[in-house]
Amino acid sequence: MVFKRGRIKFIRYKPIGKILGNQVKYMSSEADSKKVKSISDLPGVGQNILNKLVEAGYSTLEAVAVASPQDLSVAAGIPLTTAQRIIKEAREALDIRFKTALEVKKERISTKKITTGSQALDGLLGGGIETRTMTELFGEFGSGKTQICHQLSVNVQLPLEKGGLGGKAVYIDTEGTFRWERIEAMAKAIGFEPDTAMNNIYFMRAINSDHQIAIVENDLPELLSKDPAVKLVIVDSITSHFRAEFPGRENLAVRQQKLNKHLHQLVRAAEMYDLAVVITNQVMARPDMFYGDPTVAVGGHTLYHVPGIRVQLKKSRGNKRIARVVDAPHLPEGEVVFAITEEGVRDAEE
Ligand code: GTP
Ligand code: MG
Repeated sequence: MVFKRGRIKFIRYKPIGKILGNQVKYMSSEADSKKVKSISDLPGVGQNILNKLVEAGYSTLEAVAVASPQDLSVAAGIPLTTAQRIIKEAREALDIRFKTALEVKKERISTKKITTGSQALDGLLGGGIETRTMTELFGEFGSGKTQICHQLSVNVQLPLEKGGLGGKAVYIDTEGTFRWERIEAMAKAIGFEPDTAMNNIYFMRAINSDHQIAIVENDLPELLSKDPAVKLVIVDSITSHFRAEFPGRENLAVRQQKLNKHLHQLVRAAEMYDLAVVITNQVMARPDMFYGDPTVAVGGHTLYHVPGIRVQLKKSRGNKRIARVVDAPHLPEGEVVFAITEEGVRDAEE
């Protein structure tokens, strides 16, 4: 364990099994490790300039990328040409430029997908859970959110031809519902050596909302830079700590503000590190509502403003669950049925 900042206790990511050889071939490239991911990676930005930039409020790539060269030069006390070069590099790192529609199409098509274990559910999602995107699983208790998260952290390890990304997962658990036994069972069911599969999942329990935010802000980027094999980041659940710590209408504004920033950091990680982010959000069933959506997100509408794919899950008879995609113009409408079996997430039997 490590203590930082005197206040919050930080627990390091732990692989959840022993190292027993390696089934997974990682797709990390050299380019990954050289990519500019923060302002300290910008060429020509040494400690001195870095301090000046941060002091002047330019602490993120975004802030630098949209600054005017004159402002940056004056604020950080650096020559105009240096400011221009730094801004250019920051823009390239964030890929801020006009693209042709064809480039947009090619980017979209090359988006990689992780299978959920159910062909029906994959079909609903246009092939599976997308990289470079945040997917929200929302639904009432027992609707299958946590089970899908467990399944995805195993499936991401599958090779490309089997619907995985040959990668590792990060599992941030805020509710204490992570079960290594379930990972073991799901891994065995698809022929993985269970300890190897567990060793490819970095797990961390978030103690409170500050800790959850700090994990995504500090620990996650550090881990992702060190281990480019990570292709999936899960936060189960995204909202529980925030709801408990900021209850009621009077706290809504500050809660939304914190949550929004947190969500945008996750979206940004998905884009920068080319990985899938999956978050869960419990919503309460409202049987008293006859019109509109009978399940209303308890967290209010914060998540509606963040880009991503929203999947609503509902309980059905026995082990069957119903999934529906909400507000995604590029995906087909409609519902599909899947099942949670002993082996994990699967298609429902007729
Ligand atoms: P909350 O976190 O409470 O909001 O619920 P959730 O949406 O995360 O539900 P979760 O994914 O935990 O689903 C729970 C359901 O999955 C249970 O009701 C069981 O039906 C099923 N389930 C969980 N573990 C097992 C298991 O080991 N074997 C089988 N066959 N089913 C399981
Ligand atoms: Mg759960």
